[in-house]
Amino acid sequence: MSNYNVAILGAAFGDEAKAAITHYFSPQYEYIIRFGGGKNAGHSVYRNGKKYVNNLVPSVNWNEKSTKAFIASGVFVDLEHLCKEIKILQEEDREIPNKIYVDPDCFIVTPEHIQEDIATNSHLGTTNRGIGPANLSKMGRKGIRIRNILNSENQFKVFVDELKNMGVNFKGILELRNEFMKSNLLFEGSQSVLLDLNAGTYPFVSCGDATVSGIYSCGFHFVKLDQAYGIVKAYSTRVGAGPFPTEMFNDDADTLRQRGKEFGATTGRPRRIGWLDLPALNYAIKRGGITNLIISKFDVLDGMEQIKICTDYQKEPTCSDDFFSAVPQYITMSGWQYSQNIEQIQPFVDKVEKLTGLHVEYTTHGVQGYGCIKHRK
Ligand code: IMP
Repeated sequence: MSNYNVAILGAAFGDEAKAAITHYFSPQYEYIIRFGGGKNAGHSVYRNGKKYVNNLVPSVNWNEKSTKAFIASGVFVDLEHLCKEIKILQEEDREIPNKIYVDPDCFIVTPEHIQEDIATNSHLGTTNRGIGPANLSKMGRKGIRIRNILNSENQFKVFVDELKNMGVNFKGILELRNEFMKSNLLFEGSQSVLLDLNAGTYPFVSCGDATVSGIYSCGFHFVKLDQAYGIVKAYSTRVGAGPFPTEMFNDDADTLRQRGKEFGATTGRPRRIGWLDLPALNYAIKRGGITNLIISKFDVLDGMEQIKICTDYQKEPTCSDDFFSAVPQYITMSGWQYSQNIEQIQPFVDKVEKLTGLHVEYTTHGVQGYGCIKHRK
């Protein structure tokens, strides 16, 4: 039987419950692969009654013993933080570090990068995790790759040694290529198309490639993706500065923020709240290479009498600058009690499918994105 490969991509402004969905699908895959971002990504999952927030390690469901993790070369690695994350996982099961692979071509984030981020990027509302400055070092050809540390004495060697002692594997994509070609692969996106350095609302963007091309720039040219799922919530959120056409400024926003626990997993910042934005989703679909949709967190809207969807802007966005001047047009739909009767969301889902032309293959509820995942034929 041939293998099956999928991507889970953010189709809005991040925080769409990608990690929870990845974790849910994880047992069906041999490798869960992170291909972008760094410690700026806060990926929350629940396993065996415990909450785990990983920033760097892919959202593997470690209950399935055969699934492994690969951190591909597009990820910027804060080595000290990676040690901390893996230690927590090691407490869960001593074998986990042996199942984590890191591409030595990954560039590292240094304490100087973090200082520079705090000093120069706060007007963009960054997470202050050093991602922008680490990218600058890479582009300026003065970055440090893990490979450089493996082969020489260096102040960061202590962390690489610690990772090795725990059992973490440092192997490049070509060393693992044959195994990847025989395996089912799930590529877990971080951030989202609208925060993508090229496609997103520049300069209010992160620095990675959050589209399918981010997967290929890590060297996965031998992989054919069967599906690239775009994930959106049934409403929208954005954290940090930048355009957010469907933002709400009323009590409903506060209610949804509390009910949806919309506070940054990495920084604890309150997220801005808005209605589902279909012109933005259509833009993300086209720029991201998205083939199918998953809509999450329906139950957060339970009990609202009316729910809005933005169906158009006065001008269809054809470039990211168009989000700065967008004038959203809304339709209003009847509310639902998703937790009690899942069928009530059908008109909303029909509308999304009609206006995007894509199939909504799964819907989810549960504040963390997967109290239940419902497959839709
Ligand atoms: P940076 O990635 O820390 O440089 O931040 C750039 C922008 O991306 C800021 O608006 C951040 O709030 C946003 N951002 C970065 N990572 C995430 C994430 O994982 N979820 C949501 N927003 C993010």
